[in-house]
Amino acid sequence: MAVSPAYQGWRRQSTKEVAKGMNKIFQAVKVTDHVYWVGAIDWNIRDFHGYTTKRGTTYNAYLILSDRITLIDTVRTSFKKEMLARISSVVDPTEIQYLVSDHSEMDHTGSLPDVIDAVKPERIFASIMGAKTLREIHHLEHDIEPLIDGDSLDVGNMKLTFYETRMLHWPDSMFSYLVDEKILFSHDAFGMHLATSERFADEINDAVLDHEAATYFANILLPYAPVITKLMERVDSIGLACDIVAPDHGPIWRSGVGTIMDNYRTWALQKPMRKAVVVYDTMWHSTELMAKAVSEGLASTGISVKHMSMHGNRRSDVAYELLDAGALVVGSPTLNNNLFPTIADVLTYIKGLRPRNLIGAVFGSYGWSGESLRYIRDLLDDMKVEVIGDGVAARQVPDAGVLEECYALGVAVGERVNEKTINA
Ligand code: FEO
Repeated sequence: MAVSPAYQGWRRQSTKEVAKGMNKIFQAVKVTDHVYWVGAIDWNIRDFHGYTTKRGTTYNAYLILSDRITLIDTVRTSFKKEMLARISSVVDPTEIQYLVSDHSEMDHTGSLPDVIDAVKPERIFASIMGAKTLREIHHLEHDIEPLIDGDSLDVGNMKLTFYETRMLHWPDSMFSYLVDEKILFSHDAFGMHLATSERFADEINDAVLDHEAATYFANILLPYAPVITKLMERVDSIGLACDIVAPDHGPIWRSGVGTIMDNYRTWALQKPMRKAVVVYDTMWHSTELMAKAVSEGLASTGISVKHMSMHGNRRSDVAYELLDAGALVVGSPTLNNNLFPTIADVLTYIKGLRPRNLIGAVFGSYGWSGESLRYIRDLLDDMKVEVIGDGVAARQVPDAGVLEECYALGVAVGERVNEKTINA
């Protein structure tokens, strides 16, 4: 995307100039009397390390106007001035005394070195792993004070308590909890990639929230589902009362806190529904024809089918659909003795997300060698998918007999999903 000369000029201006000139445009949003959102809106991002972000995202940072003014997290590098302008709409950034980094990933710390230079905070805090990771990423010379699980920090007239949330989704992650206002700053957790002019979830359509929160969970947090189950048990056991949940992406939850937490409990279990995802690509429509026969067979057993050609669907769409699916059926042509590239791509991505409780099957067409089924099968085995049968292979164009085999494969998978979900 072309960057306008005006925008380039703005980027060249000093922090001080921006703070003076832009704070009427980029304003902080009041969350409570003492807490302001001072993040940035990324309307245009469409690829977030492999996750297609159709609705953009936000990078949330929060300013606590306690006696010792505290900034929780920062933003991606290119949004530094937007964040500083929003801070300047409330206070002079140099009045910030404490910086807290809840999560070291660059979308929240890319601007941290420049913010430290601009703000010159008295103290900087992160978890033990956070302090280590920040040094590894940014090679900071500043002292970063490590916090351990359960530590509290006096920020003047208010108190922050920290809870380590390791592997949610990095080893460094921690929650910061503003005790006095019952606000949980939850880094990536309970967030979503959604750029909106609204800052609060209760201002946004529920269907959009549900879809984007689930897509985010499936694409970012799913590998750590067992950790999330334990975390939610801990939240319950310590009786952490949250009037507001303020994540690092997407809207702030000031109502619906219970709903998003319940959704996390449910999604983390990955309980399979009577639903199958058929993922395939095709060269000359042979594998496509087979996929249609498989889907017909699945549907005949009462299973809901998501029929996903990788010619048009994104890997993150597949991840979303798998969140509550009972089956993953994969088809690929053999191309140059290998998998079709889009299928290798989506399976590599999905394997990393570690989906659980899936029934599987394989199919595909070939010209003379037919290795694709074996490669898919190996990947599904690695993913601990329960694979039904040996799969169906078609040499060149499938005839009626091969399509009947594909239909029967769909029926066999559907019946196994029905059996498993009914007995669950
Ligand atoms: Fe939004 Fe893991 O960073």
